[in-house]
Amino acid sequence: MENFRFKALKGMDKDLYKALSMLEDICKKHDDVRLKLELDYKLAKKDAPDKSPEENKDEFTCWDGDKLVGYLGIDDFGGRTIEVNGMVHPEYRRRGIFKELYSLVKKEWEKRSSDSMLLLTDSKSSAGKSFIKTTDSLYDHTEYEMILSDSLFEKAKGASKGLMLREACNDDALEIARQNSIYFGEELSDQKLLNIEVEKKRGFHVYMALLEGIIVGKVHLHLINGEGGIFGLGIIPEYRGKGLGRELLLLSVEKLKEFHANHIYLQVDAENDTALGLYQSCGFKENYSMEYYKLKKER
Ligand SMILES: CC(C)(COP(=O)(O)OP(=O)(O)OC[C@H]1O[C@@H](n2cnc3c(N)ncnc32)[C@H](O)[C@@H]1OP(=O)(O)O)[C@@H](O)C(=O)NCCC(=O)NCCS
Repeated sequence: MENFRFKALKGMDKDLYKALSMLEDICKKHDDVRLKLELDYKLAKKDAPDKSPEENKDEFTCWDGDKLVGYLGIDDFGGRTIEVNGMVHPEYRRRGIFKELYSLVKKEWEKRSSDSMLLLTDSKSSAGKSFIKTTDSLYDHTEYEMILSDSLFEKAKGASKGLMLREACNDDALEIARQNSIYFGEELSDQKLLNIEVEKKRGFHVYMALLEGIIVGKVHLHLINGEGGIFGLGIIPEYRGKGLGRELLLLSVEKLKEFHANHIYLQVDAENDTALGLYQSCGFKENYSMEYYKLKKER
């Protein structure tokens, strides 16, 4: 390999954030594809660390002198799966840079307790898909990112069923994990309980949904740089089919508008027809789709 320098870093700092944002812009313009690098969240995480900062190296970079030319980042949510996503500067492609970054990330993953790794690529990225074919990963699922259309949202508003939002506190962490296990199939024992106060400092606000004082669901709202994200939304099965999911979504949008979000987006599994239908009926439109490919550790 030419004189490239590969460096694994522990966390995101402002300089790396700036260099990565520039590289992301170059790649987005060149390829017209989306990446899911979570740079803002990673930077916020550095400013608001957990009590026990992770020692793991999550940022894998490649440099030509002082120029950042390649990146592969790990998102480790503390569960059984890590997610990885990255890019190479258009002028530096097909020289084996991504292959080298991937082999470094794979070695790092081998050391961790997570037993699967998800490789992400925009469905439109033929290079991304071709690269993924060279790995042993298998197609897992596709997620759509959906963006709110304000005019459609105004039309979607309806009569209230009396659902209320209450900002979550650390005492809700177990209930949040219990609901995640129902909605997203993550075993309760595999989840790291959220530190709600720390998450808030990172721009993540969790709300419990209450009906007549009883918790019936929850949602995670993310606000950073005027972008509002809706995640982890769910209604407990006993309370479904009564329009509460729809009201929770509408309340979430209103809350993000109160926080002055300019754009509101969410992500949804492309095969989750119920959620897709709900989001469309509330004014969300598909923006792009991200494919996930899974690699499992050999036992
Ligand atoms: C996907 C991407 C990261 C590849 O970076 P790269 O440094 O050019 O990749 P490498 O040189 O390490 O390629 C390794 C192998 O992947 C495959 N590959 C990579 N790009 C390819 C392309 N455009 N067409 C066909 N195969 C390709 C080849 O098998 C290649 O080996 P070879 O060159 O010996 O044939 C780069 O094209 C990119 O940044 N794309 C935009 C962002 C993106 O889609 N990210 C998703 C990553 S999964």
